[in-house]
Amino acid sequence: MNALDIIETKKRGRELDDARIGELIAGFTSGAVPDYQMAAFLMAVWFRGMTPAETAALTGAMLRSGEQLDTAVLSGPSADKHSTGGVGDKVSLLLAPLAAACGLKVPMLSGRGLGHTGGTLDKLEAIPGYDIRLDNTRFLGIVERVGCAIIGQGPTIAPADGRIYALRDVTGTVDCVPLITASIMSKKLAAGPETIVIDLKTGSGAFMRDLEQARELATALIAVGRSYGRRMAVVFSDMDQPLGRAIGHANETLEAFAALRPGGRASAPADLVRLTEELTADMVRVAGLEPTAEAALARVRAAWDGGRALAVLLEWVAAQGGRIEPGRDDFGLDCAPAAMDLTAPHDGWLSTVDCRQVGLALADLGAARRRVEDKLDLSAGLDYLVRVGDAVTRGQPLVRVFCHDRTRAEEAVSRLGAAMTIAREPAAPRPLILGRME
Ligand code: URA
Repeated sequence: MNALDIIETKKRGRELDDARIGELIAGFTSGAVPDYQMAAFLMAVWFRGMTPAETAALTGAMLRSGEQLDTAVLSGPSADKHSTGGVGDKVSLLLAPLAAACGLKVPMLSGRGLGHTGGTLDKLEAIPGYDIRLDNTRFLGIVERVGCAIIGQGPTIAPADGRIYALRDVTGTVDCVPLITASIMSKKLAAGPETIVIDLKTGSGAFMRDLEQARELATALIAVGRSYGRRMAVVFSDMDQPLGRAIGHANETLEAFAALRPGGRASAPADLVRLTEELTADMVRVAGLEPTAEAALARVRAAWDGGRALAVLLEWVAAQGGRIEPGRDDFGLDCAPAAMDLTAPHDGWLSTVDCRQVGLALADLGAARRRVEDKLDLSAGLDYLVRVGDAVTRGQPLVRVFCHDRTRAEEAVSRLGAAMTIAREPAAPRPLILGRME
């Protein structure tokens, strides 16, 4: 294999075939291709792009760099949801048991948060005893018996992606649709679900800032998924403000679990309920359990309101060693006390939120990572108390900070104050679902 020749071919905008892309990734994984050649290749891709066939080949090569789970052992249709990441996004924690209660098998591999976006894995670690590291046999065993399980995406899943992502991060090649597509899909395909629904977030708290970019990525994700025989759907959702009310780890886990209690669909934050219902209904419909969107939504609501989703939740968490106390309001999770509020400086309407800064305020509290090795305070968090378009009066709490350390809380409040604009004129509420693609 001649890495230089592969780089030259891409640099000149010519198409690479499957075999050469496969050789490059295999060579990089084994150490035969050094970082500097891979970095040059990534930059060539950034400038020249990739054809759909090249993107599919890159995804396949990265997928084959590690282990793949065999979901053929499962007795029902398997489905998963992937979110491109945001602030306050705890959907997976209620969607997994809800989808399982609807009759799907949900094998979920999740990652950690980095920068301003949170990760499902960190939220799960707020549950005492919950084991995020199960071997594949135990993992699939729980999915088969209970309907869902969520573990960490360990180093054996698409290891080439971890190393390539680290290089992209330091070579200005993160924002590149074929590279993002291969990165996301190599990991999703490794978990083996037949149906994949993507929650593609856009806005100030997402890494896709506008809908046009998001559509380009969705087209590539769907094409790659289909080329590997998967049923695919994409929902575009707003991330110009946090999702739901709780932002943090223990408090997001609590909000998600509480939403599945009897009456929870009516009392939980409306945006969290709506997005969870829509994504779960898409999984149900696209997987073939129901023929129409209406029938799928009705199945989801029946599983939610009838208590089946809560029953699956309790069984799933216990199967992974988690100790939660459903009889207690806080499910026995360790949530920090309220430390201080950010209040409205004058009467008006909440018009904009820099959602990325809200995520970074969590880092001020020690509850989000600035570096991969950072240890998190899982008990700290925020409550986002108003939504864009809401009228507010002077002194009204906008965000409540939960934290054991007052200095940290002050830092977070100061950042949040600069991130939220109270306009003197009415502001329109933001739509949550911005579109779909299949
Ligand atoms: N998420 C991923 O897993 N990879 C990317 O490249 C971007 C978002």
